[in-house]
Amino acid sequence: MWLSARTCLIIAACSVVLDAAEQRQRHERPHILFLMVDEMDGRLLDDETPQFKPPLPNLRALMKNGTYFPNTYSNSPLCVPARTSMVTGRYNSDIKIWDNFVGIANVNGDDTQIDQRCLTAYSRRECLEFAASQNINGTFFDVLADQGYNLTLWGKVHAGGGVERFSRHIFNDPFTGTGLVRESAKAWTRSTGVASKLQDPTDWLQRPIDVPKPAENFFDYPTADECTRLLEQGLFKSSTPQFLYCSFAVPHPPYQTNSTYWNAVGPLGKHAMPTLVPRDKLHPADEYAVRSKQFWNLDNCKPEHIEHFRRVYFAMCVEADHLVGRILTAFWENVDPDDAFVIFVSDHGELNLEHRQWQKSSMKEASARIPLIVSGPGMPKGRRVQSLASLNDIYPTLLDIAGAGSRVPADKLAGESVLPIARWDHRKKNYVVSEYYDTFSRTGTFMVRQGQQKLIVHAPLENGVRWPAQLFNIATDPWELTDLAAELPSEVSRLEALLRREFDLEAVDAQKKAYDHKMFISYVYRRYSGPAGCQKAMRVAFPGFDEEDAKLVEKWLGKPCCKVLDGRVQRKAKFHTLACPSKTGQKVPSS
Ligand SMILES: *[C@@H]1O[C@H](CO)[C@@H](O)[C@H](O)[C@H]1NC(C)=O
Ligand SMILES: *[C@@H]1O[C@H](CO)[C@@H](O)[C@H](O)[C@H]1NC(C)=O
Ligand SMILES: *[C@@H]1O[C@H](CO)[C@@H](O)[C@H](O)[C@H]1NC(C)=O
Ligand SMILES: *[C@@H]1O[C@H](CO)[C@@H](O)[C@H](O)[C@H]1NC(C)=O
Repeated sequence: MWLSARTCLIIAACSVVLDAAEQRQRHERPHILFLMVDEMDGRLLDDETPQFKPPLPNLRALMKNGTYFPNTYSNSPLCVPARTSMVTGRYNSDIKIWDNFVGIANVNGDDTQIDQRCLTAYSRRECLEFAASQNINGTFFDVLADQGYNLTLWGKVHAGGGVERFSRHIFNDPFTGTGLVRESAKAWTRSTGVASKLQDPTDWLQRPIDVPKPAENFFDYPTADECTRLLEQGLFKSSTPQFLYCSFAVPHPPYQTNSTYWNAVGPLGKHAMPTLVPRDKLHPADEYAVRSKQFWNLDNCKPEHIEHFRRVYFAMCVEADHLVGRILTAFWENVDPDDAFVIFVSDHGELNLEHRQWQKSSMKEASARIPLIVSGPGMPKGRRVQSLASLNDIYPTLLDIAGAGSRVPADKLAGESVLPIARWDHRKKNYVVSEYYDTFSRTGTFMVRQGQQKLIVHAPLENGVRWPAQLFNIATDPWELTDLAAELPSEVSRLEALLRREFDLEAVDAQKKAYDHKMFISYVYRRYSGPAGCQKAMRVAFPGFDEEDAKLVEKWLGKPCCKVLDGRVQRKAKFHTLACPSKTGQKVPSS
């Protein structure tokens, strides 16, 4: 039992006790440094995987100071879905946040307060509708604020939820919005099966290696500068518990670097070329992804161009390590390690031309595996924990650190605190899942990993066809080249049953497909002049879009998607002046 402060004021002798009491109070809500990068393949730090290992000395120092969770997965490998499921601790199909175009619409769990970015992109009525269907009762930011934490947010959040009201310094942080038609039309029409007919990746492989400050956007450097400065100025010496969030875009595209990082990586040796499944043996889901990313002809590219591209990505990871390292150095020099936690995580990975793909949006290891390191009081140092983990574990972990009661009914929280997992290397639920419904995926994709087995299940296609599931053993086949599903049907059923415990696959996929249809009609079709603008918009989304593709879109849409008359006038025409040609060759005005 601690004496109260008031009692202590009259008993000088108990000042030692008071100090201890204060100390104890402090330790109940330790400071938290939250470090995040975007698009870092989790295997880069895992020496038990054969993945190439660029030098990441700062992150490796953090691993020595804390606990490393090599088998951590993104719950939905794309920016907004990953980040919203992380900050709410819930599945995307539960919060109905499916893609990069709509984030958390409400503010602090209050459905009458709407996120500013939502209002910029959509009408108030639509944002209220999003908020009602999402049913989100605040994020971990809100819970920490309620718990008395002083929040400082630097860099990329990309989740919505009205985080502007915190001490927040952000530059160019896109979140909601229908975005470029090139991206939104592509995403929302994915279930038609249309993919770009024009396949020419060679242009993309020649990435710059001489950009003075290559990290994407200009906010990465200010984020490193300001977080470093705050720690040097003693922010974490405060008696108010601090939550300092420092979040980088790098190694997210654009793929570019400079010779400092390029030289640190060096030639890739046996990792220059990824081993690929032959194109005629690809699973249809992977074929769709490759075609819609326009990488079908990667096999024709020069090996040196492929190595160049891959090396640029690894160099960007070195840059990320460098930026994070500046903050870590300030932390180690200025903060009492018994009074502060450090969490390092990425939202998803990067395929870096494995499986003939770039970017993410895939359940393959390169895209779905993420790094997770946690250091702090009570965390074993230099420990590697084999247990699985996922982004959904971040919310319960932060609540555990902050001693906060959950704001979400426990049955809705998808993850577990990793603090006990670090100690006992044991999860209550011994599998993790992931779900994906956005661009480059023709239908809803679900993943479960248990032990070394990974199952990927595809929801039925629009036409009712069901693609077979994919099964990989990550230990014996780390590059996921050998699909074992046909050979081990009982494993497939067993793992699929685990997935079905978490998701009603067909039902949530149908919800997302209905959303796609509605969004396409509102934000592409109506906005771009209906039938006459439709093909023009689709040609931007899918280079090489032709009449055959238009028929697929018309069938899905239940509306015409016509080609406008060729010629100078049409090429220059604004969407609203476009018209469909009539059967007699006359122009008919668009409806
Ligand atoms: C963490 O590692 C760094 C670099 O090796 C070192 O300077 C620092 O003192 C360590 N901190 C703790 C708390 O172990
Ligand atoms: C909260 O953090 C800011 C830095 O973002 C700092 O200037 C301020 O003093 C802190 N407030 C408290 C109460 O700790
Ligand atoms: C590369 O970028 C870093 C900043 O991240 C800079 O310090 C370094 O000087 C740059 N190298 C070259 C060769 O421009
Ligand atoms: C939402 O969070 C608040 C504050 O933590 C809590 O009092 C309330 O019960 C929660 N509401 C629901 C529906 O979970």
